[in-house]
Amino acid sequence: MKPPRKLHIKSYGCQMNVYDAQRMVDALAADGFVETAAVEDADLVILNTCHIREKASEKVYSELGRLRLAREEAARNGRDMRIAVAGCVAQAEGDEIIRRAPVVDVVVGPQSYHHLPELLARAARDGKAIETEFPAQDKFGFLPPPESDAIRARGISAFVTVQEGCDKFCTFCVVPYTRGAEVSRPVERIVEDVKRLADHGVRELTLIGQNVNAYHGEGPDGRVWPLGRLLHRLADIPGIARLRYSTSHPRDVDDSLIEAHRDLPALMPFVHLPVQSGSNRILTAMNRKHTVRDYLDIIERFRRARQGIAFSSDFIVGFPGESEQDFSATLALVTQIGYAAAYSFKYSPRPGTPAAEMQEMVSASDMDQRLARLQELIDSQQSAFNRAAIGTTVDVLFERPGRNSGQIVGRTAYLQPAHVMAPTDIIGKVLPVRIDRLERYSLLGQLAPAPHPRGAKIASSQTTIGA
Ligand code: SAH
Ligand code: SF4
Ligand code: F3S
Repeated sequence: MKPPRKLHIKSYGCQMNVYDAQRMVDALAADGFVETAAVEDADLVILNTCHIREKASEKVYSELGRLRLAREEAARNGRDMRIAVAGCVAQAEGDEIIRRAPVVDVVVGPQSYHHLPELLARAARDGKAIETEFPAQDKFGFLPPPESDAIRARGISAFVTVQEGCDKFCTFCVVPYTRGAEVSRPVERIVEDVKRLADHGVRELTLIGQNVNAYHGEGPDGRVWPLGRLLHRLADIPGIARLRYSTSHPRDVDDSLIEAHRDLPALMPFVHLPVQSGSNRILTAMNRKHTVRDYLDIIERFRRARQGIAFSSDFIVGFPGESEQDFSATLALVTQIGYAAAYSFKYSPRPGTPAAEMQEMVSASDMDQRLARLQELIDSQQSAFNRAAIGTTVDVLFERPGRNSGQIVGRTAYLQPAHVMAPTDIIGKVLPVRIDRLERYSLLGQLAPAPHPRGAKIASSQTTIGA
């Protein structure tokens, strides 16, 4: 029998890429590959790339420079190292990648991962192989299901892609070009995946999609199901204690989603809802198709549906034409909402997007200064949110041993890391924790006596901060 070949895969960008990386490992396992953490031992290195901002896509080329040296070293030791570029840079740049970095053997777009074994064979035969088509199929249906051992190794919390692509065309964004049009997976396929994950110890699911709440998959009844209905179905699967979804768009928040937050204790009261800007003028220029008022109304609907619900968001500063007044409106919106966390980015023009043609660029120094001001405000909100947990009892899903011996780490409903001293058999359980203190972003506490009667369903023991 041939010894297994070794695969090293490095992912950049969003959760979709993290999930896709796992599926590539699964696809290549069937072809005799095993994963290695050591790039120098690899027979195949895959860079799973992100194109969202210039910095993200430039990282690929510096990494390819390093890989060229690793490949030369492998060749000196009589080994052949193959290099593949996957993900959104592969989709956006195609054969341009091989022109700039001839060390690359295979370029494969996000819709073609099920063809990887074939592409590797083609590259071995012909030297290079490129595939960046958008086949109109559910690529996941062609990938083998993960092996039991592989699922167990992935732990307590797992991602499941339910939707891919985006039809929104925000003027700054490459995603509609790199991931194609919105496609939803059928409900039954997702249910099968989730049952398999739950059977192997997964307790928390994050449903992912570039526009996850635009989900409109075919249900077992032949009808189109929205995300809220899918969440109801998944909450019924034994073993699933927590559900999350990411990333949603304000325009696709419908009644079914709000009702799911009202009715499903397993659905965590923490919603990532990017707004990008607090200025209507800029929102229009971004083609977000919602106003600040619309966004505030949506937040209000969530808050009415679920006590203790908290929000995170994404912001772009320095979009072309953003004035000091527009930026102040963003600060005002952040102040009004009070986020538990948020990401903020400097606008980065992306080739081929409408905003890249816009003239009124904001100066680099204004962008830096606005980013710093926004991040300071967000940090202060995040710290206040975390401090509010001190002295309360919150539910924690325990995931793994911590760095210090005897310590177990889990996460609260709001994804805050929480540490307790406890035996390892609490891993996989949701237990109440009395929070004593905060160390940077982590909560430290002790297991508290269960506040609920024996036999209560795990998922329903939901204690919320400040509730
Ligand atoms: N689908 C998600 C976002 C995906 S990209 C949504 O609609 O919210 C993640 C974040 O990257 C975006 O929310 C945005 O804040 C940021 N981003 C996208 N394109 C960008 C660009 N050209 N420059 C700077 N930030 C950008
Ligand atoms: Fe990009 Fe806008 Fe689509 Fe989000 S909704 S992926 S920001 S185009
Ligand atoms: Fe990046 Fe592509 Fe995700 S551009 S953010 S890896 S969809």
